[in-house]
Amino acid sequence: MPTIAVIGASGNLGRRVADLLLDQGERPVLLTRNPAALAAYAQRGADVRHGDFADPAGLRAALTGVDRLLLISVDVVGPERLVLHSQAVDAAAAAGVGHVLYTSLSSPEPDNPAGVAASHRITETAIRGSGMTWTFLRNNIYAEFQVPTVAQAAASGQLITNSGKGASAYVSREDCAAAAAAVLTSDGHENAVYDITGPEAIDSAALAALAAEFGGQPVEVVDVDDESFIQGLLSAGLPPEAAPLIASFGTSARGGWAEHVSTAVHDLTGRAPISLHDVLSANRDAFKG
Ligand SMILES: NC(=O)c1ccc[n+]([C@@H]2O[C@H](COP(=O)([O-])OP(=O)(O)OC[C@H]3O[C@@H](n4cnc5c(N)ncnc54)[C@H](OP(=O)(O)O)[C@@H]3O)[C@@H](O)[C@H]2O)c1
Repeated sequence: MPTIAVIGASGNLGRRVADLLLDQGERPVLLTRNPAALAAYAQRGADVRHGDFADPAGLRAALTGVDRLLLISVDVVGPERLVLHSQAVDAAAAAGVGHVLYTSLSSPEPDNPAGVAASHRITETAIRGSGMTWTFLRNNIYAEFQVPTVAQAAASGQLITNSGKGASAYVSREDCAAAAAAVLTSDGHENAVYDITGPEAIDSAALAALAAEFGGQPVEVVDVDDESFIQGLLSAGLPPEAAPLIASFGTSARGGWAEHVSTAVHDLTGRAPISLHDVLSANRDAFKG
């Protein structure tokens, strides 16, 4: 049995992968900067260790004996993100990890304007050159991230967007976790790229229709350009570093970079991916008041 590890284990995705692994009888190594946060997982049989992308020597020691590693991209943006990722890749290779799974982004091509595309592309390149075998799980935009957007549109009657006619194949975190757990616990995924997507690509008209359904009133699409969209986010109180990043995903969708729908979730997990409609239904409280 290969020894499986997850780094970034106390985040939303990491915890769900850990749940699925434990449910399958695995005893995963869970690496986190905050082991106390995963005490309940240790009680269930996980081997919880301290692991920080910013401490390569400690990370290398903590990864000793690991065969398969799920490297979850950090929630940090800006130049530090790349440094952290490349240190983690080097530490994993130096520790003798055989196979690394990396949570990347749909279409991390040079022309994709999504703000994190370059960091994912460069991290993928570092992993390809690391000597480890790899699997890239190119997760589309989380469906859960659309809950506040749709709720706000439902309440106001307007969906303000810079994504034009573009569509995104929103994917639930649950499906991202299930796909990662499936790859970690089965063979034959060496040097494979999987586009982890929801069941359909959803454009702003479809998003507005969902907002109308859940809000019980008509919702119109209001198309704006990138600059106006950023100004709107800033006026709503978003931090100056977050607004352009969020807007970049609309620009990316407008260019068609997020619309590809794959069969990967079904192929890897044996069940259909969860729809955005189902994610919204599970978050009905967001539409109250
Ligand atoms: N597809 C999308 O729409 C989308 C949206 C947002 C983010 N993402 C990406 O997907 C990742 C996972 O999503 P999520 O929802 O689970 O995010 P999350 O709950 O914010 O978790 C972020 C993770 O980053 C880890 N991390 C940050 N700095 C670290 C460091 N120095 N060393 C080790 N780990 C570090 C944290 O690990 P510990 O606290 O356990 O150390 C945590 O597990 C995010 O980090 C981000 O890169 C994707």
